[in-house]
Amino acid sequence: MSKILVIYASDYGSTEKAAQKIAEGARAVEGTEVEVKKALEVTPEDMSAADGIIAGSPTHMGSMHWELKKWIDEVCGGLWMKDALVGKVGAVFGTGGGYGNAGGGCELTMLSLLNNFAELGLILVPLPRNTPGYDKAGLQWGPYARAHTEQGQPVGVKEEQLESFMNHGANVARIAKVAQQHSFFPKP
Ligand SMILES: Cc1cc2nc3c(=O)[nH]c(=O)nc-3n(C[C@H](O)[C@H](O)[C@H](O)COP(=O)(O)O)c2cc1C
Repeated sequence: MSKILVIYASDYGSTEKAAQKIAEGARAVEGTEVEVKKALEVTPEDMSAADGIIAGSPTHMGSMHWELKKWIDEVCGGLWMKDALVGKVGAVFGTGGGYGNAGGGCELTMLSLLNNFAELGLILVPLPRNTPGYDKAGLQWGPYARAHTEQGQPVGVKEEQLESFMNHGANVARIAKVAQQHSFFPKP
């Protein structure tokens, strides 16, 4: 059995909806157990027990939600010092308003989470552009859904935008299942 932990922050429900869809995709992979948690509820034990970690954030002022940064600093920091997560699988997803019609900082948000995951020694999983649903809600870094109209009205994440999230969850679960059985990185 391989375990996927989906971690998110969400004030208005869009990122939570995306997180649940990621979980649905991961759960569909045979032999995979999935847990979905808000960033503030994640413990070091949850992290150590997971084979794959998928974190998602809304874009806030062009960067990640503070709850995710708190989790990175206070939960992941201690594990980083012990190299406790090296060789696990990591991936990200996001939502945003897309202010200015050029992303509004969603790429920086996702890249900064991926940067943290690289620090932790995770095996990073991108979102290939041939993934079904990529055209509606995809970036190479992971699925991203714009939850506002071009006029800036918050309308939430639409059903048609969720396909890439589901496929991302399944991709990560398949990779984590294999990675769990190997030690790709030599121990010092
Ligand atoms: C405090 C705050 C700051 C935001 N800053 C940005 C931003 O810089 N760029 C952007 O594209 N969207 C921004 N948004 C819009 C949110 O990213 C978007 O509504 C997101 O989907 C909300 O996710 P949630 O429903 O999970 O809370 C901001 C929203 C809030 C509440």
